[in-house]
Amino acid sequence: MKLKHYLDTQDLTSQEILNLLDLIRVLKDADKARCLPPLLEGASLGMVFEEPSTRTRVSFEVAMTKLGGHALYLKPGEIHLGERESLADTARVLSRMCDILMARTLKHETMLELAKYATVPVLNGLTDYNHPTQVLCDVFTMQEFMPAGKHFSDLNVTFVGDATNVLSSLMHICTQLGMHFTHAAPKAYQPPKRWIEIAEENCKNSGGTLEITEDVGKAVSRADFIYTDLWWWVGQEDEIPDRRKAFMPKYQITTDLLKKAPSHVKLMHCLPASRNVEATDDALDSNYSIIFDQAENRLHTQKALLVAFLYPLLKKNGPEEKKVWKDKIHTMLQKF
Ligand code: CP
Repeated sequence: MKLKHYLDTQDLTSQEILNLLDLIRVLKDADKARCLPPLLEGASLGMVFEEPSTRTRVSFEVAMTKLGGHALYLKPGEIHLGERESLADTARVLSRMCDILMARTLKHETMLELAKYATVPVLNGLTDYNHPTQVLCDVFTMQEFMPAGKHFSDLNVTFVGDATNVLSSLMHICTQLGMHFTHAAPKAYQPPKRWIEIAEENCKNSGGTLEITEDVGKAVSRADFIYTDLWWWVGQEDEIPDRRKAFMPKYQITTDLLKKAPSHVKLMHCLPASRNVEATDDALDSNYSIIFDQAENRLHTQKALLVAFLYPLLKKNGPEEKKVWKDKIHTMLQKF
């Protein structure tokens, strides 16, 4: 694979996504066996966060450490992000000091600009448009919990709730892999035409299908996986009463709703969850729920992304070359 940035699931072909899923599998197994090689020894990851994060931040930082590298947490107020220094200059400078960057930006345009001026790979850790590292983890988790005898092309994935940045990425990656994707939401909270067109194009190429509906009962009746996400986000506080009214109770994930799905159905949520809002405690803590397996897989997914994008770029020196440099530095130090 010759990969530049990972800003969108559409940046990868379906074959590249499948290759990454295989890499996640082997790195997860190697890690569990405590046999993970230090593939990124001495490398640095710059992590730019305009928004708080638990899973994305911790998974990238731990992944980098486990692979022999290290990560820096860079947040507004602590670095000159677009205020005292242009974003382009920040991208250029970080690229001179770090081997790879990941960023969480409020606006997708900021992510695109960062990637435009960065000379090292940039991984998108969430914008107002999408969350590609999350959904790569999600399809890996689906693969782990795939009903016996099924393939991606047999899977029915139903997302219930607001057309969030996670919904956009999930409908795109699922349709790239030939799955049958349904979004159940009130009309006002269904995805924009532009997102639907991308998913429909994916379906033409993959054999997948897309359905957008208000009929949540029908949407869950065939689901192998039910996925939900927050009903409102930062900056939408004024809309909370309207949103609550639109979604509650019909679109809330309860154990009663889960019982309308096939008995093997699994419940997913990218987290953080607003418990007893988009999903009840009973549902999130039920045997249907795989939300913490999904959260753990963020760590294994980040390892694969870091290795896939960075390892091919790192110069690999043998012991002889390392000895030449060690001797040279040692001789120089004699002068001090
Ligand atoms: N799902 C997710 O991105 O979680 P964080 O906001 O905690 O990173």
